[in-house]
Amino acid sequence: MDKKRIDVTRPSMPPFEEYVNEIKSIWERKWLTNFGAIHNELAEKLEGFLDVPNISLFTNGHQAIYSALCLLGKPGGEVITTPFTFASTTHAIAQAGMTPVFCDVDPVTYTLDPSKIEALITEKTVAILPVHVYGNVCDTEAISAVAKKYGLPVIYDAAHAFGVKKNGKGIGNFGDVSLYSFHATKAYNSIEGGAAAYGDKELSAGFKRFINFGLVDGENVENTGTNAKMNEFSAAMGLCNLRHIGEVLEGRKRVCTIYKKILFECDPLFDEKTGVEPSLGIKMLPLQDNVESNYAYFPVLFGINENCKVTRDQVKDMLATENIHARRYFYPLTSEFDCYRGAKGAGETPVAESISRKVLSLPLYAELASEDAVMIAELIKAFLK
Ligand SMILES: Cc1ncc(COP(=O)(O)O)c(C=O)c1O
Repeated sequence: MDKKRIDVTRPSMPPFEEYVNEIKSIWERKWLTNFGAIHNELAEKLEGFLDVPNISLFTNGHQAIYSALCLLGKPGGEVITTPFTFASTTHAIAQAGMTPVFCDVDPVTYTLDPSKIEALITEKTVAILPVHVYGNVCDTEAISAVAKKYGLPVIYDAAHAFGVKKNGKGIGNFGDVSLYSFHATKAYNSIEGGAAAYGDKELSAGFKRFINFGLVDGENVENTGTNAKMNEFSAAMGLCNLRHIGEVLEGRKRVCTIYKKILFECDPLFDEKTGVEPSLGIKMLPLQDNVESNYAYFPVLFGINENCKVTRDQVKDMLATENIHARRYFYPLTSEFDCYRGAKGAGETPVAESISRKVLSLPLYAELASEDAVMIAELIKAFLK
């Protein structure tokens, strides 16, 4: 018999009837997009759940990053960012007419290393774009300090950080603006979707215009814009999924706890603060002080010391023979894409490079059965030994 297929992720979906019930009113209103009633309800509910003062909704996270750069950056300017991210982050900079400048990351959290930002700042720098990668929180204080010194806006890619809190505050409260992704593969989804969270209420009108072709009203346009409005069907999925977010995050936590227990906690030398398990030569995400996690990903670095006798790719291939599909997320670095070869900082981020050569994200979703998670972790453990 064929082995059951287990993918790296699977979207969370509400009960079918719940979604159908949610979209019924769309037929009565005949209002499909352009800031409809469900869109507005979702925006309001998300402000509460994410604990942020203002939210604008988008078709997807990429458009949210792009729009924020267009509003807060400057064409022709340089944006300091991490290469250890998804294509979207770097592409958004380029599409907004700016140049990415690649800065290395911290070896423990894999987020932008604030101590390396200053050396990259020039008179052309217009923004800093860090990523709360895997929901790991950036060193927001240190990044704010550099940004403040040079008068630069901080635009956080929070695509991975839905529901994450730091010091009891929603992660979207840090920096000038934070962009979330509600893509089907994320911890929370609206099929496709995204949001910008920000403190400055003035930005609200700017985003609203920008994502609707720059229209001030039916006939007047002062600035360019795009089309990035969330439609009612996506918003309805978002509303339904928000009702179930508690169970979803619990399910993810359950799987992460199993992986952690089997692969990491057996070793008394396992260090929660760094995520390092020295006996097997592997590393998981660190436990961050005062951070409420969303258990969005379970990336493992293979080969952090000589005790690990197998490569990341060998682990990936071994799992694939069992029909388990882990993902090299992120590999390669975006600075290694053909379109960014030769960019400033490309090839000069050794920490990010080393992480991307070692990292494998294990299957993780709320419905992953505990026995499957145990099986995956045991397979890896046996392979490492
Ligand atoms: C780090 C990061 N940034 C941006 C995005 C773009 O989000 P979306 O797919 O919603 O456009 C994603 C995910 O897809 C991501 O992982």
